[in-house]
Amino acid sequence: MDRIVIRGGRPLNGTIPISGAKNAALPLMTAALLSDGPLVLENAPDLADIATMRALLEQHGLSVEHDKATRRLTLSGAATSLEAPYDIVRKMRASVLVMGPLVARFGEARVSLPGGCAIGTRPVDLHIKGLEQMGAVFDLEGGYMHAKAPPGGLRGARIIFPQVSVGATENLLMAATLADGVTELVNAAQEPEIGDLAMCLMRMGARIEGIGTAKLTVEGVKRLGGATHPVIPDRIEAGTFACAAAITGGSVKLEGARLVDLGAVARVLRDAGVDVAERHDGLQVTRLNGLHGTDVMTEPFPGFATDMQAQFMALMCVADGAAMITETIFENRFMHVPELMRMGARIKYHGQSAIVRGVPKLSGAPVMATDLRASVSLILAGLAAQGETIVNRVYHLDRGYEAVERKLAAVGAQIERVGG
Ligand code: UD1
Repeated sequence: MDRIVIRGGRPLNGTIPISGAKNAALPLMTAALLSDGPLVLENAPDLADIATMRALLEQHGLSVEHDKATRRLTLSGAATSLEAPYDIVRKMRASVLVMGPLVARFGEARVSLPGGCAIGTRPVDLHIKGLEQMGAVFDLEGGYMHAKAPPGGLRGARIIFPQVSVGATENLLMAATLADGVTELVNAAQEPEIGDLAMCLMRMGARIEGIGTAKLTVEGVKRLGGATHPVIPDRIEAGTFACAAAITGGSVKLEGARLVDLGAVARVLRDAGVDVAERHDGLQVTRLNGLHGTDVMTEPFPGFATDMQAQFMALMCVADGAAMITETIFENRFMHVPELMRMGARIKYHGQSAIVRGVPKLSGAPVMATDLRASVSLILAGLAAQGETIVNRVYHLDRGYEAVERKLAAVGAQIERVGG
Protein backbone atom coordinates (compact mmCIF):
# COMPACT_ATOMS: atom_id res chain seq x y z
CA MET A 1 0.00 0.00 0.00
CA ASP A 2 1.29 3.49 -0.89
CA ARG A 3 2.74 5.82 1.73
CA ILE A 4 3.65 9.48 1.63
CA VAL A 5 7.10 10.38 2.90
CA ILE A 6 7.82 14.00 3.86
CA ARG A 7 10.92 15.75 5.10
CA GLY A 8 9.70 18.87 6.80
CA GLY A 9 11.03 22.36 7.33
CA ARG A 10 10.90 23.94 3.88
CA PRO A 11 8.77 27.04 3.29
CA LEU A 12 6.47 26.64 0.30
CA ASN A 13 6.58 29.27 -2.43
CA GLY A 14 4.97 29.31 -5.86
CA THR A 15 1.63 28.57 -7.48
CA ILE A 16 -0.71 25.65 -6.85
CA PRO A 17 -3.57 25.10 -9.31
CA ILE A 18 -6.82 24.31 -7.49
CA SER A 19 -8.86 21.44 -8.93
CA GLY A 20 -12.62 21.23 -9.36
CA ALA A 21 -14.49 20.55 -6.14
CA LYS A 22 -15.06 16.89 -5.27
CA ASN A 23 -18.14 17.73 -3.21
CA ALA A 24 -19.62 19.71 -6.09
CA ALA A 25 -18.75 17.17 -8.79
CA LEU A 26 -20.36 14.20 -6.98
CA PRO A 27 -23.91 15.62 -6.79
CA LEU A 28 -23.50 17.16 -10.26
CA MET A 29 -22.76 13.70 -11.65
CA THR A 30 -25.92 12.26 -10.05
CA ALA A 31 -27.93 15.13 -11.60
CA ALA A 32 -27.23 13.45 -14.96
CA LEU A 33 -29.85 10.84 -13.94
CA LEU A 34 -32.53 13.55 -14.22
CA SER A 35 -32.37 13.85 -18.02
CA ASP A 36 -31.35 12.02 -21.18
CA GLY A 37 -28.46 14.45 -21.26
CA PRO A 38 -25.82 14.79 -22.21
CA LEU A 39 -24.58 16.56 -19.11
CA VAL A 40 -21.07 17.80 -19.76
CA LEU A 41 -19.14 18.66 -16.61
CA GLU A 42 -15.95 20.65 -17.10
CA ASN A 43 -13.17 21.07 -14.53
CA ALA A 44 -14.01 17.75 -12.84
CA PRO A 45 -11.26 16.48 -10.52
CA ASP A 46 -9.58 13.13 -11.11
CA LEU A 47 -10.17 11.34 -7.81
CA ALA A 48 -11.02 7.93 -6.43
CA ASP A 49 -14.46 9.16 -5.27
CA ILE A 50 -15.25 10.41 -8.78
CA ALA A 51 -14.31 7.01 -10.20
CA THR A 52 -16.56 5.33 -7.61
CA MET A 53 -19.46 7.60 -8.58
CA ARG A 54 -18.80 6.82 -12.22
CA ALA A 55 -19.02 3.06 -11.49
CA LEU A 56 -22.30 3.58 -9.63
CA LEU A 57 -23.82 5.65 -12.44
CA GLU A 58 -22.64 3.21 -15.11
CA GLN A 59 -24.49 0.39 -13.42
CA HIS A 60 -27.62 2.61 -13.49
CA GLY A 61 -27.15 2.74 -17.30
CA LEU A 62 -25.33 6.04 -17.78
CA SER A 63 -22.46 6.25 -20.18
CA VAL A 64 -19.59 8.35 -18.88
CA GLU A 65 -16.94 9.63 -21.28
CA HIS A 66 -13.79 10.99 -19.73
CA ASP A 67 -11.49 13.44 -21.49
CA LYS A 68 -8.97 15.20 -19.25
CA ALA A 69 -11.07 17.27 -16.80
CA THR A 70 -14.33 16.85 -18.75
CA ARG A 71 -16.95 14.20 -18.03
CA ARG A 72 -19.78 13.66 -20.48
CA LEU A 73 -22.67 11.78 -18.89
CA THR A 74 -25.50 10.44 -21.02
CA LEU A 75 -28.45 8.27 -20.12
CA SER A 76 -29.88 7.07 -23.40
CA GLY A 77 -33.09 5.16 -22.83
CA ALA A 78 -34.23 3.73 -19.53
CA ALA A 79 -32.09 3.17 -16.45
CA THR A 80 -30.66 -0.36 -16.41
CA SER A 81 -30.90 -0.57 -12.62
CA LEU A 82 -32.62 1.46 -9.92
CA GLU A 83 -30.44 -0.01 -7.19
CA ALA A 84 -27.39 1.51 -5.51
CA PRO A 85 -25.63 -1.58 -4.14
CA TYR A 86 -24.08 -1.93 -0.70
CA ASP A 87 -20.58 -2.53 -2.09
CA ILE A 88 -20.48 0.93 -3.65
CA VAL A 89 -22.49 2.88 -1.03
CA ARG A 90 -20.33 1.60 1.85
CA LYS A 91 -17.24 2.91 0.05
CA MET A 92 -18.71 6.33 -0.54
CA ARG A 93 -21.67 7.85 1.31
CA ALA A 94 -22.33 10.40 -1.42
CA SER A 95 -23.84 7.45 -3.34
CA VAL A 96 -27.14 8.18 -1.56
CA LEU A 97 -27.40 11.23 -3.83
CA VAL A 98 -28.76 9.00 -6.60
CA MET A 99 -31.92 8.47 -4.55
CA GLY A 100 -33.66 11.81 -5.20
CA PRO A 101 -32.98 11.80 -8.96
CA LEU A 102 -33.98 8.13 -9.41
CA VAL A 103 -37.28 8.47 -7.51
CA ALA A 104 -38.11 11.75 -9.25
CA ARG A 105 -37.40 10.49 -12.75
CA PHE A 106 -38.19 6.76 -12.61
CA GLY A 107 -40.55 6.60 -9.61
CA GLU A 108 -38.43 4.15 -7.65
CA ALA A 109 -35.01 3.57 -6.08
CA ARG A 110 -33.38 0.94 -3.90
CA VAL A 111 -30.39 2.40 -2.12
CA SER A 112 -28.28 0.61 0.46
CA LEU A 113 -28.22 2.32 3.85
CA PRO A 114 -24.72 3.76 4.16
CA GLY A 115 -24.24 2.82 7.80
CA GLY A 116 -21.73 4.55 10.06
CA CYS A 117 -18.35 5.81 9.02
CA ALA A 118 -15.16 6.76 10.79
CA ILE A 119 -16.38 10.26 11.63
CA GLY A 120 -19.73 9.31 13.13
CA THR A 121 -23.09 7.61 12.68
CA ARG A 122 -24.23 9.94 9.85
CA PRO A 123 -27.90 9.00 9.43
CA VAL A 124 -29.93 9.74 6.27
CA ASP A 125 -33.28 10.35 7.99
CA LEU A 126 -33.58 13.89 6.59
CA HIS A 127 -33.28 12.58 3.02
CA ILE A 128 -36.01 10.01 3.71
CA LYS A 129 -38.38 12.36 5.55
CA GLY A 130 -38.14 14.98 2.80
CA LEU A 131 -38.94 12.48 0.05
CA GLU A 132 -41.83 11.15 2.17
CA GLN A 133 -43.21 14.70 2.37
CA MET A 134 -43.12 14.71 -1.43
CA GLY A 135 -45.28 11.58 -1.43
CA ALA A 136 -42.68 8.80 -1.61
CA VAL A 137 -43.25 5.64 0.41
CA PHE A 138 -40.25 3.89 1.99
CA ASP A 139 -39.68 0.27 2.96
CA LEU A 140 -36.53 -0.72 4.78
CA GLU A 141 -35.55 -4.24 3.82
CA GLY A 142 -32.28 -6.14 3.96
CA GLY A 143 -30.27 -3.00 4.70
CA TYR A 144 -31.79 -1.18 1.73
CA MET A 145 -34.10 1.83 1.54
CA HIS A 146 -36.72 1.06 -1.07
CA ALA A 147 -38.47 4.27 -2.12
CA LYS A 148 -41.50 4.49 -4.38
CA ALA A 149 -43.10 7.65 -5.73
CA PRO A 150 -46.91 7.91 -5.75
CA PRO A 151 -48.62 7.01 -9.09
CA GLY A 152 -48.54 10.58 -10.46
CA GLY A 153 -44.90 11.08 -9.38
CA LEU A 154 -43.42 13.17 -6.57
CA ARG A 155 -45.39 16.23 -5.46
CA GLY A 156 -44.08 19.62 -4.40
CA ALA A 157 -43.94 20.16 -0.63
CA ARG A 158 -42.78 22.64 1.98
CA ILE A 159 -39.85 20.94 3.69
CA ILE A 160 -38.38 22.50 6.80
CA PHE A 161 -35.07 20.92 7.74
CA PRO A 162 -34.69 20.62 11.53
CA GLN A 163 -30.92 20.62 11.00
CA VAL A 164 -28.76 21.81 8.11
CA SER A 165 -27.71 18.96 5.85
CA VAL A 166 -25.71 19.36 2.66
CA GLY A 167 -26.61 15.94 1.25
CA ALA A 168 -30.33 16.12 2.13
CA THR A 169 -30.59 19.60 0.57
CA GLU A 170 -28.95 18.29 -2.62
CA ASN A 171 -31.07 15.14 -2.83
CA LEU A 172 -34.33 17.03 -2.33
CA LEU A 173 -33.33 19.90 -4.60
CA MET A 174 -32.76 17.42 -7.42
CA ALA A 175 -35.98 15.53 -6.66
CA ALA A 176 -37.97 18.79 -6.60
CA THR A 177 -36.90 19.79 -10.12
CA LEU A 178 -39.14 17.08 -11.62
CA ALA A 179 -41.90 17.05 -8.96
CA ASP A 180 -45.43 18.20 -9.64
CA GLY A 181 -45.82 21.72 -8.22
CA VAL A 182 -43.69 23.93 -6.01
CA THR A 183 -41.22 22.72 -3.37
CA GLU A 184 -39.80 24.95 -0.69
CA LEU A 185 -36.64 23.87 1.11
CA VAL A 186 -36.40 25.86 4.33
CA ASN A 187 -33.21 25.92 6.43
CA ALA A 188 -31.43 24.57 3.36
CA ALA A 189 -27.65 24.22 3.39
CA GLN A 190 -25.89 27.21 1.78
CA GLU A 191 -22.56 25.60 0.95
CA PRO A 192 -21.13 26.80 -2.41
CA GLU A 193 -21.57 23.25 -3.76
CA ILE A 194 -25.36 23.62 -3.39
CA GLY A 195 -25.31 26.85 -5.39
CA ASP A 196 -23.22 25.12 -8.04
CA LEU A 197 -25.68 22.23 -8.27
CA ALA A 198 -28.61 24.66 -8.50
CA MET A 199 -26.89 26.61 -11.31
CA CYS A 200 -26.30 23.40 -13.24
CA LEU A 201 -29.92 22.28 -12.75
CA MET A 202 -31.07 25.69 -14.04
CA ARG A 203 -28.90 25.18 -17.13
CA MET A 204 -30.71 21.84 -17.59
CA GLY A 205 -34.05 23.70 -17.49
CA ALA A 206 -34.98 23.62 -13.78
CA ARG A 207 -36.75 26.56 -12.15
CA ILE A 208 -35.09 27.50 -8.86
CA GLU A 209 -35.17 30.65 -6.77
CA GLY A 210 -33.22 31.63 -3.69
CA ILE A 211 -29.84 30.23 -4.78
CA GLY A 212 -27.22 31.04 -2.15
CA THR A 213 -29.83 31.51 0.60
CA ALA A 214 -31.32 29.22 3.22
CA LYS A 215 -34.63 29.00 1.37
CA LEU A 216 -34.76 27.37 -2.04
CA THR A 217 -38.00 27.45 -4.03
CA VAL A 218 -38.30 25.00 -6.90
CA GLU A 219 -41.08 24.89 -9.44
CA GLY A 220 -41.16 21.40 -10.89
CA VAL A 221 -40.93 20.94 -14.68
CA LYS A 222 -41.92 17.94 -16.83
CA ARG A 223 -38.44 17.22 -18.10
CA LEU A 224 -34.88 18.48 -17.99
CA GLY A 225 -32.41 18.57 -20.85
CA GLY A 226 -28.65 18.42 -21.32
CA ALA A 227 -26.21 21.17 -20.32
CA THR A 228 -22.55 22.07 -20.09
CA HIS A 229 -21.40 23.20 -16.67
CA PRO A 230 -18.00 24.00 -15.12
CA VAL A 231 -17.46 22.56 -11.62
CA ILE A 232 -16.51 25.24 -9.05
CA PRO A 233 -12.98 25.21 -7.62
CA ASP A 234 -12.45 23.08 -4.51
CA ARG A 235 -12.63 25.40 -1.49
CA ILE A 236 -11.42 22.66 0.85
CA GLU A 237 -8.39 21.89 -1.30
CA ALA A 238 -7.71 25.66 -1.40
CA GLY A 239 -8.08 25.96 2.38
CA THR A 240 -5.78 22.97 2.86
CA PHE A 241 -3.01 24.47 0.72
CA ALA A 242 -3.52 27.83 2.45
CA CYS A 243 -2.69 26.00 5.70
CA ALA A 244 0.33 24.40 3.97
CA ALA A 245 1.68 27.85 3.06
CA ALA A 246 0.97 29.10 6.59
CA ILE A 247 2.44 26.16 8.49
CA THR A 248 5.71 26.30 6.52
CA GLY A 249 6.05 30.09 6.67
CA GLY A 250 5.75 30.48 2.92
CA SER A 251 3.66 32.32 0.34
CA VAL A 252 1.57 30.43 -2.19
CA LYS A 253 -0.79 31.50 -4.96
CA LEU A 254 -3.89 29.28 -5.06
CA GLU A 255 -4.76 29.50 -8.72
CA GLY A 256 -8.50 29.57 -9.37
CA ALA A 257 -9.53 29.70 -5.68
CA ARG A 258 -12.26 32.17 -4.72
CA LEU A 259 -12.46 34.12 -1.48
CA VAL A 260 -16.28 33.96 -1.24
CA ASP A 261 -16.16 30.16 -1.18
CA LEU A 262 -13.90 30.08 1.88
CA GLY A 263 -16.49 31.64 4.21
CA ALA A 264 -15.17 31.91 7.77
CA VAL A 265 -11.98 30.00 6.90
CA ALA A 266 -10.42 33.17 5.40
CA ARG A 267 -11.27 35.26 8.46
CA VAL A 268 -9.93 32.66 10.87
CA LEU A 269 -6.67 32.34 8.90
CA ARG A 270 -6.26 36.13 9.02
CA ASP A 271 -6.89 36.14 12.77
CA ALA A 272 -4.16 33.51 13.07
CA GLY A 273 -1.62 35.77 11.31
CA VAL A 274 -1.97 34.63 7.69
CA ASP A 275 -2.56 37.11 4.89
CA VAL A 276 -5.21 35.95 2.41
CA ALA A 277 -5.35 38.36 -0.53
CA GLU A 278 -7.69 38.13 -3.48
CA ARG A 279 -6.09 38.33 -6.94
CA HIS A 280 -7.81 38.30 -10.33
CA ASP A 281 -6.82 34.67 -10.87
CA GLY A 282 -6.86 33.24 -7.35
CA LEU A 283 -5.74 33.86 -3.80
CA GLN A 284 -2.29 34.72 -2.51
CA VAL A 285 -1.73 33.23 0.93
CA THR A 286 1.26 34.41 2.95
CA ARG A 287 2.30 33.81 6.53
CA LEU A 288 3.14 37.25 7.94
CA ASN A 289 5.12 36.71 11.13
CA GLY A 290 4.27 34.22 13.84
CA LEU A 291 1.04 32.24 14.03
CA HIS A 292 -1.37 33.06 16.86
CA GLY A 293 -3.57 30.56 18.64
CA THR A 294 -7.11 31.18 17.34
CA ASP A 295 -10.34 29.55 18.51
CA VAL A 296 -12.73 28.03 15.98
CA MET A 297 -16.04 26.26 16.00
CA THR A 298 -17.20 24.29 12.97
CA GLU A 299 -20.57 25.34 11.58
CA PRO A 300 -22.58 25.06 8.37
CA PHE A 301 -21.50 27.49 5.63
CA PRO A 302 -20.64 30.36 5.81
CA GLY A 303 -19.29 29.21 9.18
CA PHE A 304 -15.96 27.42 9.54
CA ALA A 305 -16.11 24.16 7.53
CA THR A 306 -15.83 20.87 9.41
CA ASP A 307 -13.79 19.65 6.41
CA MET A 308 -11.10 22.20 7.39
CA GLN A 309 -11.02 21.40 11.10
CA ALA A 310 -8.21 18.83 11.06
CA GLN A 311 -5.99 20.99 8.82
CA PHE A 312 -6.50 24.06 11.00
CA MET A 313 -5.70 22.01 14.07
CA ALA A 314 -2.37 21.00 12.49
CA LEU A 315 -1.64 24.71 11.98
CA MET A 316 -2.53 25.54 15.58
CA CYS A 317 -0.09 22.86 16.80
CA VAL A 318 2.77 25.24 15.96
CA ALA A 319 1.07 28.57 16.82
CA ASP A 320 1.91 30.89 19.71
CA GLY A 321 -0.56 30.33 22.52
CA ALA A 322 -3.61 28.11 22.73
CA ALA A 323 -6.53 27.43 20.40
CA MET A 324 -9.84 25.89 21.34
CA ILE A 325 -11.30 23.88 18.48
CA THR A 326 -14.92 22.81 18.75
CA GLU A 327 -16.51 20.37 16.33
CA THR A 328 -20.29 20.75 16.10
CA ILE A 329 -21.10 18.90 12.86
CA PHE A 330 -19.78 15.37 13.40
CA GLU A 331 -19.51 13.56 16.71
CA ASN A 332 -16.25 11.72 16.15
CA ARG A 333 -13.96 13.92 14.16
CA PHE A 334 -10.82 14.11 16.29
CA MET A 335 -9.12 10.93 15.12
CA HIS A 336 -6.15 12.96 13.90
CA VAL A 337 -5.45 14.12 17.49
CA PRO A 338 -3.52 11.06 18.73
CA GLU A 339 -1.50 11.00 15.50
CA LEU A 340 -0.62 14.71 15.80
CA MET A 341 0.40 14.03 19.42
CA ARG A 342 2.78 11.34 18.19
CA MET A 343 4.51 14.17 16.34
CA GLY A 344 4.89 16.22 19.52
CA ALA A 345 1.66 18.25 19.45
CA ARG A 346 0.14 19.24 22.81
CA ILE A 347 -3.58 18.64 22.57
CA LYS A 348 -6.23 17.73 25.11
CA TYR A 349 -9.73 16.92 24.07
CA HIS A 350 -12.94 16.19 25.79
CA GLY A 351 -16.18 15.55 23.96
CA GLN A 352 -16.51 17.94 21.07
CA SER A 353 -13.73 20.37 22.05
CA ALA A 354 -9.96 20.23 21.85
CA ILE A 355 -7.44 22.61 23.36
CA VAL A 356 -4.28 22.87 21.30
CA ARG A 357 -1.25 24.44 22.99
CA GLY A 358 1.26 25.45 20.38
CA VAL A 359 4.79 24.05 20.47
CA PRO A 360 7.85 25.57 18.74
CA LYS A 361 8.49 22.45 16.61
CA LEU A 362 6.82 19.18 15.70
CA SER A 363 8.97 16.14 15.05
CA GLY A 364 8.48 13.72 12.17
CA ALA A 365 7.04 10.26 12.89
CA PRO A 366 5.27 7.39 11.16
CA VAL A 367 1.53 8.13 11.40
CA MET A 368 -1.71 6.53 10.27
CA ALA A 369 -4.43 8.28 8.27
CA THR A 370 -7.97 7.55 9.42
CA ASP A 371 -10.07 9.59 7.04
CA LEU A 372 -9.68 12.01 4.19
CA ARG A 373 -9.20 15.29 6.05
CA ALA A 374 -7.31 13.68 8.94
CA SER A 375 -4.78 12.28 6.49
CA VAL A 376 -4.06 15.64 4.91
CA SER A 377 -3.69 17.25 8.35
CA LEU A 378 -0.85 14.79 9.00
CA ILE A 379 0.80 15.83 5.74
CA LEU A 380 0.58 19.48 6.85
CA ALA A 381 2.12 18.60 10.19
CA GLY A 382 4.85 16.67 8.35
CA LEU A 383 5.65 19.73 6.20
CA ALA A 384 6.42 21.71 9.35
CA ALA A 385 8.06 18.93 11.37
CA GLN A 386 11.73 18.30 11.92
CA GLY A 387 12.82 15.06 10.27
CA GLU A 388 10.84 12.48 8.37
CA THR A 389 7.12 11.82 8.53
CA ILE A 390 5.57 8.78 6.89
CA VAL A 391 1.82 8.89 6.35
CA ASN A 392 0.36 5.40 5.97
CA ARG A 393 -3.03 4.43 4.47
CA VAL A 394 -2.85 7.00 1.74
CA TYR A 395 -5.98 5.66 -0.01
CA HIS A 396 -8.02 8.04 2.14
CA LEU A 397 -6.12 10.93 0.61
CA ASP A 398 -6.69 9.75 -2.95
CA ARG A 399 -10.44 9.97 -2.41
CA GLY A 400 -10.31 13.74 -2.21
CA TYR A 401 -6.98 15.27 -3.25
CA GLU A 402 -5.74 15.29 -6.82
CA ALA A 403 -1.97 14.75 -7.08
CA VAL A 404 -1.37 16.21 -3.63
CA GLU A 405 2.28 15.21 -3.45
CA ARG A 406 3.01 16.56 -6.93
CA LYS A 407 1.28 19.87 -6.19
CA LEU A 408 3.21 20.28 -2.93
CA ALA A 409 6.54 19.19 -4.43
CA ALA A 410 6.11 21.78 -7.20
CA VAL A 411 6.13 24.58 -4.61
CA GLY A 412 9.18 23.31 -2.78
CA ALA A 413 8.04 20.55 -0.41
CA GLN A 414 10.21 17.48 0.02
CA ILE A 415 7.48 14.93 -0.38
CA GLU A 416 7.12 11.69 -2.30
CA ARG A 417 4.80 8.75 -2.65
CA VAL A 418 6.37 5.35 -2.17
CA GLY A 419 4.69 2.08 -3.06
CA GLY A 420 4.57 -1.21 -1.20
C1 UD1 B 1 -21.22 16.76 3.17
C2 UD1 B 1 -19.83 16.68 2.61
C3 UD1 B 1 -18.81 16.42 3.72
C4 UD1 B 1 -18.95 17.49 4.80
C5 UD1 B 1 -20.39 17.60 5.28
C6 UD1 B 1 -20.60 18.76 6.25
C7 UD1 B 1 -20.20 15.80 0.39
C8 UD1 B 1 -20.06 14.67 -0.56
N1 UD1 B 1 -19.80 15.60 1.64
O1 UD1 B 1 -21.51 15.51 3.77
O2 UD1 B 1 -17.51 16.45 3.15
O3 UD1 B 1 -18.13 17.14 5.90
O4 UD1 B 1 -21.26 17.82 4.16
O5 UD1 B 1 -20.22 19.95 5.67
O6 UD1 B 1 -20.60 16.90 0.01
N2 UD1 B 1 -27.52 14.41 9.32
C9 UD1 B 1 -28.61 13.81 9.92
N3 UD1 B 1 -29.56 13.25 9.13
C10 UD1 B 1 -29.47 13.28 7.76
C11 UD1 B 1 -28.37 13.90 7.15
C12 UD1 B 1 -27.40 14.47 7.97
O7 UD1 B 1 -28.72 13.76 11.15
O8 UD1 B 1 -30.38 12.75 7.09
C13 UD1 B 1 -26.46 15.02 10.19
C14 UD1 B 1 -25.10 14.36 9.99
O9 UD1 B 1 -24.96 13.22 10.78
C15 UD1 B 1 -24.17 15.49 10.41
C16 UD1 B 1 -24.91 16.75 9.93
O10 UD1 B 1 -26.28 16.35 9.76
O11 UD1 B 1 -24.07 15.53 11.79
C17 UD1 B 1 -24.40 17.34 8.65
O12 UD1 B 1 -24.31 16.31 7.66
P1 UD1 B 1 -24.49 16.60 6.11
O13 UD1 B 1 -24.43 18.07 5.88
O14 UD1 B 1 -25.67 15.88 5.60
O15 UD1 B 1 -23.18 15.94 5.52
P2 UD1 B 1 -23.02 15.14 4.16
O16 UD1 B 1 -23.94 15.70 3.12
O17 UD1 B 1 -23.05 13.68 4.43
